[in-house]
Amino acid sequence: MEAIKQIEQRALIAIQGAGSIQQLGAIRVQVLGKKGELTEFFKQMRDLTPDDRKQVGQVINTAKAALENALEQKQAVLEQAQLAQKLVNESIDVTLPGRNTRIGHLHPISKARERIEEFFLKLGFEIAEGPEVESDYYNFEALNVPAHHPAKAMADTFYFGDGSLLRTHTSPTQIRYMETHEPPFKMIAPGRVYRCDSDVTHTPMFHQVEGLVISPNLTMADLKSLLHELMQYYFEKSLDIRFRASYFPFTEPSAEVDITCVRCQGKGCRICSHTGWLEVLGCGMVHPNVLKAGNIDPEKFNGFAFGLGLERLAMLRYQVDDLRAFYENDLRMISQFTHL
Ligand code: DAH
Repeated sequence: MEAIKQIEQRALIAIQGAGSIQQLGAIRVQVLGKKGELTEFFKQMRDLTPDDRKQVGQVINTAKAALENALEQKQAVLEQAQLAQKLVNESIDVTLPGRNTRIGHLHPISKARERIEEFFLKLGFEIAEGPEVESDYYNFEALNVPAHHPAKAMADTFYFGDGSLLRTHTSPTQIRYMETHEPPFKMIAPGRVYRCDSDVTHTPMFHQVEGLVISPNLTMADLKSLLHELMQYYFEKSLDIRFRASYFPFTEPSAEVDITCVRCQGKGCRICSHTGWLEVLGCGMVHPNVLKAGNIDPEKFNGFAFGLGLERLAMLRYQVDDLRAFYENDLRMISQFTHL
């Protein structure tokens, strides 16, 4: 019994001195484990008389309870200390300055497109889309472009081996829209177009917005006033517009449209080659052959159409003088347009 008490005392001191949960575990095994010092005494008990066994049993049980209690308390203390240490190690200095999230912004081309869409949506136009991989039929034939027209030459058009091609303009969307809608209607079709052309003023991919209005009694005057309003809305200033006679296979008559130079107000500058005018788009009254290709009776309806280049309009509005700046993905360039 004396030996048991000694073991208890030694173990209690060891428990108090334990510096880690692992050490505590080792002490537990050493005293109370299967081959522990105290456990050995239990085994020897069967050699005792019943009276002695009772007495010794009581001493062992008391010692065991005292040790378990001490182990439990020390375990709690050590766990607490471990947690406190962890909190110190992982603490976050909330006084450090934060890292700002920079807000993204739209590319000037997207902004230009959105302004134009906004104008037409207010007037009740629908926004249509067409495929960028087109057939010769939609890109040329249905638009009254004759078989040997120079625009069809390999030099301008990206052809795929199977006869399909990358659309060279957004005009094929006119045909697709006419095929699937009953007139009267008014629509615009913004999108990417492709031409085999690359220099300071041309990129192989660029953007256009096509417009088409079909109704029973439209005139060039309707077309001109609409485009005049569009340009004043887009540039947010009053400006003049003029039509110059031109030729497109899909319109008759056709016109090219100039506006007062927005940089010099018509006085003449480098941007307008000192003419005071800027060419901004092509347009005309839809050719009867094009209406027929779209299943519309030219005797009952007529219409006007126009096509504009978004890059040019974006360059003018945002005063970007080099077209290539739009496609270099330099954030220093495009982040200048957050507020415009
Ligand atoms: N598709 C022409 C081009 O890419 C632009 C154009 C001109 C579209 C006159 C039209 C139009 O709808 O009527 O140069």
